[in-house]
Amino acid sequence: MEKPIVSMRNIVKRFPGVVANDHIDLDVFKGEVLALLGENGAGKTTLMNILYGLYRADKGEIYIDGKNVYFKSPKDAIAHGIGMVHQQFMLIDELSVVENIMLGLKEYGLVLDLKEAVKKINKLAREMGFKIDPWQKVWQLSAGEKQRVEILKAIFRNVKVLILDEPTSVLTPQETRELFKIIKKLIANNIAVIFISHKLHEVMEIADKIVVLRKGKVVGKLSREQATPQLLAKLMVGREVFLEITKRPKKPGHVVLEVKNLKALSDKGVLALKGISFKVRAGEIAGIAGVAGNGQKELAEVIYGLRKPLEGKIYLFGKDVTHKDIYERIRIGISLIPENRLGLGIVGEFSVAENLILERIDEQPFSLNIPLLSRLNIKKINDQMLLKYSRELIEKFSIVTPSPFAKAKTLSGGNIQRLILARELGRKPGFIIAEEPTAGLDVSATEYVRKLLLEMREQGYSILLISGDLSEVLSLSDKVMVMYEGEIVGAFRPEKVSLDDVGLMMTGVKRMPREVIEKIWD
Ligand SMILES: Nc1ncnc2c1ncn2[C@@H]1O[C@H](COP(=O)(O)OP(=O)(O)OP(=O)(O)O)[C@@H](O)[C@H]1O
Ligand SMILES: [Mg+2]
Repeated sequence: MEKPIVSMRNIVKRFPGVVANDHIDLDVFKGEVLALLGENGAGKTTLMNILYGLYRADKGEIYIDGKNVYFKSPKDAIAHGIGMVHQQFMLIDELSVVENIMLGLKEYGLVLDLKEAVKKINKLAREMGFKIDPWQKVWQLSAGEKQRVEILKAIFRNVKVLILDEPTSVLTPQETRELFKIIKKLIANNIAVIFISHKLHEVMEIADKIVVLRKGKVVGKLSREQATPQLLAKLMVGREVFLEITKRPKKPGHVVLEVKNLKALSDKGVLALKGISFKVRAGEIAGIAGVAGNGQKELAEVIYGLRKPLEGKIYLFGKDVTHKDIYERIRIGISLIPENRLGLGIVGEFSVAENLILERIDEQPFSLNIPLLSRLNIKKINDQMLLKYSRELIEKFSIVTPSPFAKAKTLSGGNIQRLILARELGRKPGFIIAEEPTAGLDVSATEYVRKLLLEMREQGYSILLISGDLSEVLSLSDKVMVMYEGEIVGAFRPEKVSLDDVGLMMTGVKRMPREVIEKIWD
């Protein structure tokens, strides 16, 4: 019988208050895609960090090609052919693609000059079937391109086992297709891929084998043929999960947000919003569909007050807030669930409890320079109250944390998302911008968040939902607008549209007449 290229045996890893990995066995074979599934905090990233030499296991062994190995750092893991692309990219924005790929290579005795390296990169990229400009600076790249740089970096180092930790959570559907092609090339070259994702249909499509973790333990090992999405969801959560959603019809109320002819530049200085107008009413979920990068991010930022518009007006609860700062908008009743959770969402060094009240320090100017810390006068808060309030939210939003005092950065990816949701929704704002609210969440948390948004709609809140997940937008929204290159190219009631049409609008092939769009968006 064929021997596994990687065997992890009896791996145990404890953190204060949790057993992240509880006697885990894992085998990975050449040329296969192994999917690692599990709820937020199940221990997936921890296990992979151990394989990549970032964490030391408390107990257990790792075998590579049958040989017992011991990794002191990722350097050792890389030398044994292990590569990892993290949930957060580890590239240096100011450097070029080739410089990033070369970074740290000297340590492996591989000295190339840049020109030689560029040749090799071009060759590898060609073999993998994608294009990349080695001289481009990383900050100029899209998320999908950055990911390719990370993958190239691993191939450059002769990777045998490539770990991809939630690689699709930052990708558009098209980019995901491209990634899957790359993964197929990798396995055709006998590389093993460990693929982590919460999207069950992706796992069903790409994985040869599936390992399910729950609370640090292996609870299922299946081949793709044995798996169904329902079975996987049940294994992950430990109960039946309903993957369907029902929404009650509802008459929308008064106008909560109105934007008129909004224009704004992107970070790169190009016109990202080319005159956007629409209204969102109380008790209504307004969905924005579109391929990421068509102005959705800029739109959210302009409405929230993070980005100045070039032209146009923003009214919130009837007040002109176009020139008001974020702090004031928050007081009037706006809330943002940001896509960039680690940058905007939390202050990692702060405790979970402190993060739950970040924006509630009244009478203090709200500053976005992250040294928010210095301005945040925590002392003014009654500690007993803080503890009570945070315990309530931790409970209500099922945030897995050893205590309210744990540093926010030690939470798993999905629990950081729950923390932000708890904070933003916990203060009951009238108007909510939800940017990719379920990206990175596991099945039950996704179900929870979707229900929560619907519940808030029932209670009369007004929600702008921005999501690259088309089925999410269509199932939750009362009305949907499609953004393409900074414009609204379509607007419709979700029950009255064909998926094909939406696809054509998202890719800029089709455009609805202006009068039709305006009617829906009033
Ligand atoms: N550096 C750390 N310090 C303390 N606790 C940690 C640390 N890293 C992880 N944990 C804890 O270990 C548990 C497993 O976390 P891990 O990140 O492995 O989960 P995950 O399965 O990757 O979840 P997600 O799907 O949310 O990314 C969590 O309870 C988490 O809070
Ligand atoms: Mg993780």
